[in-house]
Amino acid sequence: MRKNIVAGNWKMNKTLQEGVDLAKELQTALNGKKVNCDVIVCTPFIHLTAVNALLDPTIVKLGAQNCADKGSGAYTGEVSAAMVASTGAQYVILGHSERRAYYGETNAILKEKLKQALENKLTPIFCIGEVLAEREAGKQNSVVKTQIEDSLFELSAEDFGKIILAYEPVWAIGTGKTATSEQAQEMHAYIRQTIAGKYGASVANETSILYGGSANAGNAGELFANPDVDGGLIGGASLKVDTFLPIVEAF
Ligand code: 13P
Repeated sequence: MRKNIVAGNWKMNKTLQEGVDLAKELQTALNGKKVNCDVIVCTPFIHLTAVNALLDPTIVKLGAQNCADKGSGAYTGEVSAAMVASTGAQYVILGHSERRAYYGETNAILKEKLKQALENKLTPIFCIGEVLAEREAGKQNSVVKTQIEDSLFELSAEDFGKIILAYEPVWAIGTGKTATSEQAQEMHAYIRQTIAGKYGASVANETSILYGGSANAGNAGELFANPDVDGGLIGGASLKVDTFLPIVEAF
């Protein structure tokens, strides 16, 4: 079901205690408040159990930032989708550009991660987006289309319907340089059209497509007002309640 969503991606920030404090503060700030979107925080793995214990999922939902491409076994240092699900987390970010760029995650690996996540009833928040050189060459649409086709289009329509997409232009991540509202709408509409071409208009219309990349309290309202922008995946501004809450309230 297409929903408005504001998700925080804490990335590799916050010790366990700091993360617990932030989650508590966010939950308190939102308790009793009427908001027009689902709120999710995606924490580091080691925070999941403690943060899950203090969150009311009707107020703030919980996700991880990654999971393994294998089910179990001799994969030192990896964390499986089943392990993530066993903490109570409901979501998992997959295919973030930082994982693609720094940890060699290919579309083929991501297909396996998606399979693991779905088998374990986690909702993937699947990230796509072009780098600066690709946008400057006018190739952003074909890059994003290939990412979607190569990782997602083997899914059944039913499984595709379980996924949240996040368009994160790499040049906008952590740079303070947000995509303009027009650039975001244009790409989100293109993504929806690409989905419609494969799965039909009703699946496309039901897919939540979030924008990520230097979203903040100042630009969230304008971004979210676009018909094809269903929310945000927020990095830096999710690390403090003071900067995250106004983004949630932008809906
Ligand atoms: P920033 O909001 O810090 O630019 O990060 C965006 C992001 O990568 C969210 O996944």
